Amino acid sequence: MPCDGAGKEVVPEAVKVLRGVGADLEFEDFDIDADSYLRTGVAIPDATWKDLQAADSILFGAVGDPRVPDPKYLHGVLLRLRFELDLYVNLRPAKLYDDRLSPLRREDRRKVDLVVVRENTEGAYVGMGGRFKQGTPDEIATQEDINTYAGVTRIVEYAFGLAKREVVMVDKSNAMTYAGGLWQERWKAIAKAHPNLKTRHLFVDAAAMQLVKDPSQFEVIVTGNLFGDILSDLTAELVGGMGIAPSANLNPKTGRGLFEPVHGTAPDIAGKGVVNPIGAILSAGMMIRHLGHREMADAIEGAVESAIRAGDCTRDLGGSLSTSQAGDAVVKRLKD
Ligand code: IPM
Ligand code: MN
Repeated sequence: MPCDGAGKEVVPEAVKVLRGVGADLEFEDFDIDADSYLRTGVAIPDATWKDLQAADSILFGAVGDPRVPDPKYLHGVLLRLRFELDLYVNLRPAKLYDDRLSPLRREDRRKVDLVVVRENTEGAYVGMGGRFKQGTPDEIATQEDINTYAGVTRIVEYAFGLAKREVVMVDKSNAMTYAGGLWQERWKAIAKAHPNLKTRHLFVDAAAMQLVKDPSQFEVIVTGNLFGDILSDLTAELVGGMGIAPSANLNPKTGRGLFEPVHGTAPDIAGKGVVNPIGAILSAGMMIRHLGHREMADAIEGAVESAIRAGDCTRDLGGSLSTSQAGDAVVKRLKD
């Protein structure tokens, strides 16, 4: 599902790399996009939805269009997939492949190899709330932050299952005491079951500060939907920017997954052949890893790293290649 804007340019590159690495996959193309939404008023047709539900994995580009201010489109595509396929884990790794991509001055603190484990099906994203006396000076707007025992438990457990060294739990339990209270209780209980792992808590404001101050201290950060959204843009920028950041939306129980670059449709640069395909290529790498092909995933990551270090990349990473040349630069290195 390339969907819109930059998504249409980067997904073909990711597919090219998957084919290049020899992945024996069958692809089915879905042209869900803003054009079809504007034409039909339907975000995902029912028949397509059935196919998507049946897919082992979804390789996704980006959704949105300046001509569609209507949030129903975004909700009807990406958020619907996350919620209805119950993809409760949003993995957002950030790894510094080349020192020169770090915005940090202190060399000893540049090393970044962390993952944000973002809760992906609850929090402020569920769309509960409303507007009362809309358009009047007395208007009231509410947006509910939903945190369930089961939802918090499963995401914190996933983070502890992933970590080798330390889990940092991030919330805002000093100000948001009800939701934060539940996160604190579940985190402490689950931490007890993992005595071999270190664990730490940070309020989200302090986490943002520490991420900029010394990102090398982090391994696994687990947090709610909204904080995870915000912190993962920050962590992307620590390793080269939005163009490079991959993500996986997973349900570890059903095995379903949706893999997408963290960047959006980038309407300002889309369609000019300059968008960076690395975020999508690394997302495809996460997909093939999830499907059980660790060697192919390692090969993709290795090829990406080598292309970046050689400067064979797009302008945002200091290179001069077009989107498809940057994809080719990765393909060329797959067998090395
Ligand atoms: C992301 C995006 C989405 C999110 C938007 C498009 C709803 O910013 O995947 O990070 O907030 O989850
Ligand atoms: Mn985001």
